[in-house]
Parts: sequence; structure tokens; C-alpha cells
Amino acid sequence: MEERLRTEFNQWARAGSAERMERGHLPVGLQALARLNVERTACGLDLGCGSGWATRWMAERAADGFAVGIDLSDEMVRVARGRSADFRNAYFCAANAERLPFADGRFSCAFSMESLYYYADIETALRELHRVLMPGARVVVVVDLFRENRATHGWIERLNMPVQLLGVDEYRRLFEVAGFVEIEDGRIYDPTPVTEEYPMRWFASRADYLSYRAEGSLLITARKPRDERRS
Ligand SMILES: C[S@@+](CC[C@H](N)C(=O)[O-])C[C@H]1O[C@@H](n2cnc3c(N)ncnc32)[C@H](O)[C@@H]1O
Repeated sequence: MEERLRTEFNQWARAGSAERMERGHLPVGLQALARLNVERTACGLDLGCGSGWATRWMAERAADGFAVGIDLSDEMVRVARGRSADFRNAYFCAANAERLPFADGRFSCAFSMESLYYYADIETALRELHRVLMPGARVVVVVDLFRENRATHGWIERLNMPVQLLGVDEYRRLFEVAGFVEIEDGRIYDPTPVTEEYPMRWFASRADYLSYRAEGSLLITARKPRDERRS
């Protein structure tokens, strides 16, 4: 399964999808990142970084720190590195979110957009995320494919790879099981004006696309406890 995902996302990267996703995800992604409060000395982690746009956003704010983007697809990592040549504190590596190649407590904040539902084992990935975060570190996650947003369910057929369809409560529970606290969910809406056009590859009709936009993206924020003994 890991190889299948890597092969498919490598093809996406070669076909220019990393940059296309960056453009498509920015209007919601920037609103989500604003909740992360990245400090000057921050050490940020971006899970499933794609083109690395969110990694660069964190690196820019963490002038005396750094940001690391990881992605299962080595071709995505290649694109991310290429687009980050001007950054001295943005790093990228090919890795599976379920086995993070980092020491315990390495990062002070983490972000992930449109990546979690591709993971074979989301619980293990969130436990890994918890492990590599410092006590008190904040996490911001966005997903568009979730049970409550019915218009996105068609993606399951359209995507040439396995994905997990979870509801808001299931996501919340996974964060809880992984040891996170202050778990909150919300929605973020894309402010881009809707035109007559709609992405026909992903939606059966314009009505479906409008329903997707109206339902919004699922935002989950959480924190690693400051003091594990008290959680
Ligand atoms: C839909 S793209 C989103 C990319 C980027 N976050 C964005 O917003 O543009 C999903 C990304 O997650 C990565 N991915 C999927 N499964 C992964 C895993 N198990 N570990 C790390 N990355 C993974 C894919 O390679 C892909 O680049």
C-alpha cells in the first residue's frame, strides 16, 4: 500500500499537481496556518508537505528556528526542495508519517493539510506526531474528505488509491487516543468567488461542487499536554 501511494503521488508530482494543490489549498490553508501562532524560534513540522508551501510559510516566521516538511513521495520532496532554494531554514525529507525519522520532542508546532486520510494507520501517525512534539506544542490539521462533507465522497472512486473516510468524531477520538488535549474542530471556508467553472475531475456536477464549498474544510486543532502527568 505504501508503494502504491508513493508511485501515485510521484506521478502527481511529475504532472505538476504539487503546484496545482498549492494554488488550490492556499485560500483555506493560510486561514488554518494563522491558528498555529508560529514563533520566531519555532521548530515546525509539516506532514505530507507536497510542494512545501506550508513548510516555507512556517520557516519564514521561524526566523531563528526552522521548519521541516516530510512526504511519502520522493518526487514531492524534490519539488518542495526546488521551490525552497532561497530558504536557509526549510528542510524536506521523504518519510512515512507513520514512522517519523525524528527524535522525541523535536518540534514546537505541526501542520498538515489534505494528507491524513491517505495514511493506512492514522492512529499510529498521530502517536508518532505526539512523540516528536515538545510538551505544549500545537497542531493544526485540515481535511476536505470527511464523512460530513458528502460531496467529497465521490473522490474515493476517483482517486486511484486507498483512502479513509472518517467523521469529525472519529478524527477527534484518534487525536485523543494519541494523547492530545484541547482538541477542537471547526470549519474553514474558501473565500474564492465561485464561478461557472468547477473542477469536473473531482465533482459530478456544479451543484456537488457548491455543496462541497458550503460544507467547508474540516479543521482540527489540538495540543500536546504541557505536563503529561496531569493529562
Ligand atoms: C493531497 S496532497 C497535499 C499536499 C500538501 N499538504 C498541500 O496542501 O498541497 C497529500 C500529500 O500527502 C502525502 N502522503 C500521503 N500519505 C503519506 C504518508 N503516509 N506519509 C507522508 N506523506 C504522505 C502525499 O505524498 C501527498 O504529497
